[in-house]
Amino acid sequence: MAKFKFDIRCIFTQPVVKISSNLLPHTFRGDRRMAMDVSSKVSEILDRLGELSAVAQKLTKPITSAQKLRVSENQTVYLMADINDYDGDTIIGLLKVGTKNLYLFDSLGQTKKIDKARCILDFYIHESRQRSGLGKKLFDIMLAEEKWTPIKCSVDRPSEKLVRFLKKYYGLENIIPQTNKFVLYEGFFDDAEQED
Ligand code: ACO
Repeated sequence: MAKFKFDIRCIFTQPVVKISSNLLPHTFRGDRRMAMDVSSKVSEILDRLGELSAVAQKLTKPITSAQKLRVSENQTVYLMADINDYDGDTIIGLLKVGTKNLYLFDSLGQTKKIDKARCILDFYIHESRQRSGLGKKLFDIMLAEEKWTPIKCSVDRPSEKLVRFLKKYYGLENIIPQTNKFVLYEGFFDDAEQED
C-alpha cells in the first residue's frame, strides 16, 4: 500500500484529484504558504507512485515524476486515494494523460499529422488493489473530465494488463499498426475531429 508520513487529506478532499504542472490539486484553495506545503506533498506522492508504476511495468526510469509534470505542457495526472481508509493516508493509483502532436498511420497506411492527439501516458493501480474495478473507476473519471472517448485515445506502449483492460471495458481490440511506440485502435480516425 502506498502510504505517506503526512495526512493526505489536505490534498484529497475527494477520492480523485487532478494535478497539472503547478503540482496542486484542482480542488486546492489556499494561500501561498499552503500551496507550497501541498505541492511538496503532491511531489512526494507523484515521485513514489511514478516509481511504483515503473517497477510494475519493468521500466528503467519512471514516466511520471513531479519534475516531469512541472515542466510538461498539456499533461494531467489523476491521483486516486482511499479517503475512507481509517488511517486516511492510502494512495491507490495514478493515471497520466496528455496531448501531443503526432505523426500517425491510418488504417490504409497513410501518414497523418494529428495535433493534440489524446494520449494515455502512464496508468498504475497499487498491486494490493488491482483487479477490483478501481482502474476502471479512475479511467472513467478521466474520460468524463477530459471529454474523451476511449477509441480516440492513443496509448503509449500499453502493458499486457492494459491491453486486456481496454479490450474488456471499451471493446478496443483491433490495432492500427504504427512505427512509433503508440498504439491506436480501429475507429481512431473515423471522424475528422482530431485531424488537421
Ligand atoms: N492480468 C491480466 N489482465 C489484467 C490484470 C492481470 N494481472 N490486471 C488487470 N487486468 C485487466 C483485465 O482485463 C481485468 O479484468 P479481469 O479481472 O476480468 O481479467 C481488468 O484489467 C480489471 O479491471 P480493473 O480492476 O478496473 O483494473 P485495475 O484496477 O487492475 O487497473 C491497471 C488496471 C492500471 C492496468 C493495473 O492492473 C496496473 O496498474 N497494472 C500494472 C501497471 C501497468 O501495467 N500499467 C499500464 C502500463 S501502460 C500505460 O500506462 C500507457
